[in-house]
Amino acid sequence: MGDNHQVNILLVDDQPAKLLSYEVMLRELGENLVMAGSAKEALEHLLKKEIAVILIDVCMPELDGFELAAMIRNHPRFQTTAIIFVSAIALTDLDRLKGYEYGAVDYVPVPVVPELLRAKVRVFAELYRKTRLLEGLNAELERRVAERTAELAQANAELERRVEERTREREVALAQVHEMQKLESLGQLTGGLAHDFNNLLMAILGNLDLLAKGAPDEAAAARLVDGAIKAAERGAMLTKRMLAFARRQELRPETVDVARLVNGMADMLRRSLGPAIEINLDFAPGLAAIRVDPNQLELSLLNLALNSRDAMPQGGRLTIAARSEKVEGGRLQNLAAGDYVCLAVTDTGCGMDEVTLKRAAEPFFTTKGVGKGTGLGLSMVYGLAAQSGGLTRISSQVGVGTTVELFLPVAPAAAAPSRPPRSDGAAAAPSSSVLLVDDDPMVAGGTVAMLRHLGHRVIEASSGAAALEILEAQPVDLVITDHAMPGMSGVELAERIRRSHPGLPVILATGYADLARGEDHGLPRLDKPYRLEKLAALIASLIGEKPTPRAVTPLPLAASEEPRESRSGGGFSAEDVPVLRRTSG
Ligand SMILES: Nc1ncnc2c1ncn2[C@@H]1O[C@H](COP(=O)(O)OP(=O)(O)OP(=O)(O)O)[C@@H](O)[C@H]1O
Ligand SMILES: [Mg+2]
Repeated sequence: MGDNHQVNILLVDDQPAKLLSYEVMLRELGENLVMAGSAKEALEHLLKKEIAVILIDVCMPELDGFELAAMIRNHPRFQTTAIIFVSAIALTDLDRLKGYEYGAVDYVPVPVVPELLRAKVRVFAELYRKTRLLEGLNAELERRVAERTAELAQANAELERRVEERTREREVALAQVHEMQKLESLGQLTGGLAHDFNNLLMAILGNLDLLAKGAPDEAAAARLVDGAIKAAERGAMLTKRMLAFARRQELRPETVDVARLVNGMADMLRRSLGPAIEINLDFAPGLAAIRVDPNQLELSLLNLALNSRDAMPQGGRLTIAARSEKVEGGRLQNLAAGDYVCLAVTDTGCGMDEVTLKRAAEPFFTTKGVGKGTGLGLSMVYGLAAQSGGLTRISSQVGVGTTVELFLPVAPAAAAPSRPPRSDGAAAAPSSSVLLVDDDPMVAGGTVAMLRHLGHRVIEASSGAAALEILEAQPVDLVITDHAMPGMSGVELAERIRRSHPGLPVILATGYADLARGEDHGLPRLDKPYRLEKLAALIASLIGEKPTPRAVTPLPLAASEEPRESRSGGGFSAEDVPVLRRTSG
């Protein structure tokens, strides 16, 4: 509504002459005058039009002005409409009060003074106009506020959508980077492993080729065989490291005297580190025995020593020290409170910068180039310590050297340090008939040769079902079965045999992760690759008779053999050293 918009003024009177006189008086206001001769007519107008001011005669025949006013006021639309009463009779104060009660806002006495009536009506008309104007402005303001709010909400939603989009894009990009890093690591690892295995196969095949052509004498033949065995052992060591990294290596913790174990390695360390590196051993007196897999600990120390050697190409000093450590809960990372022995391997090598130090223990992280380092050495050490209930800690300074500390838990009291006595070469139980079950003819061929070498009679079966058939047909003294076979697994076969032939010993020959711990039902196990001595010792222990030594005859090389490092006797020999390093680039 504009500023000068006409408003409606309702004039109510039952006398047309009076209505006319009001009209004349008010005409000059320029507003729109609406006339009603009765209350009924007045109500009709009110319902049809927007009325700004109502002028009511108090005395009308059908209904008096007060009652009309009360009716008007009752309607929600007219609760604030200005009502002016015109009264011909002199109004008492009481009448006035009644009028106000019914909703009058003002009175005009009779005789009506035109100026007074106009002034009053103008004021209310103006008030109405201003109120409407204000309402209009208010509504406009609200509309604009709502519009702005909506715009803001939309902008906000858009912003959120973009942030989300960006976050998603970033996540996708990060995932891609991760995937690429993983692939790169895998590529490096595969490249390195392929390279390593190629070299090993080269050595094995080369030696075998020469052997097949006929060696000039026995010593030459022995050298060729030895070379092939060493290469195969190195392959076995490589897979061992990968398994240790994958934490799929089954640990065989024993109570170990650290000083004795390290002293036992000293010669081998000297040989593998060379004359330019001085080796110091430093053990605190009265060290308690620890609980750890001794073979894995030796392997870890060797890995650390070889890392040190690589860090000291011009020579230097390697110190292996051991001290007792009482650890309080929460003091050392997540290490449980208790007694530990801390083994520290320190070198005076090139040290590591911050980035290398941070990543050193990451699997596959190596600074040594494809084919030179697998990057699994330190992760194997970390894996062993963690799996043994201890931890590994590295400190290093560029140009000064590196210290790697292994915290290993002290063995429960009273358990005397022990290592099984070293077994000396091939030994065999008296001739027995052995049923060998393996679905891989190559592996089976190797084991058959070893069993025959030990003087046993071998019957072969390529599946569990075939083995059961053979057992029905003929008696055997022992069954050796592979575990991972199609159809019936080794454990299932052993279970069937236990039921049908109680008391018949069954050996489970497994790779690494075929079986979770405890899944083997306590069957005697032969871990692949295994060597002759281990096979002989296990058979002897199961068949229960004293092994009789036999003359050693050459063995076919197809059989996978246990690397020397983990043979039951433990300890390292000169041949072990090259196993851990590639010899040619
Ligand atoms: N004593 C050390 N001095 C300096 N740097 C070291 C030392 N030990 C480890 N590193 C660094 O940490 C990296 C990872 O070591 P790790 O033993 O895991 O793998 P690697 O030695 O490279 O390979 P691998 O052990 O398979 O031969 C090394 O490449 C080297 O950069
Ligand atoms: Mg290493």
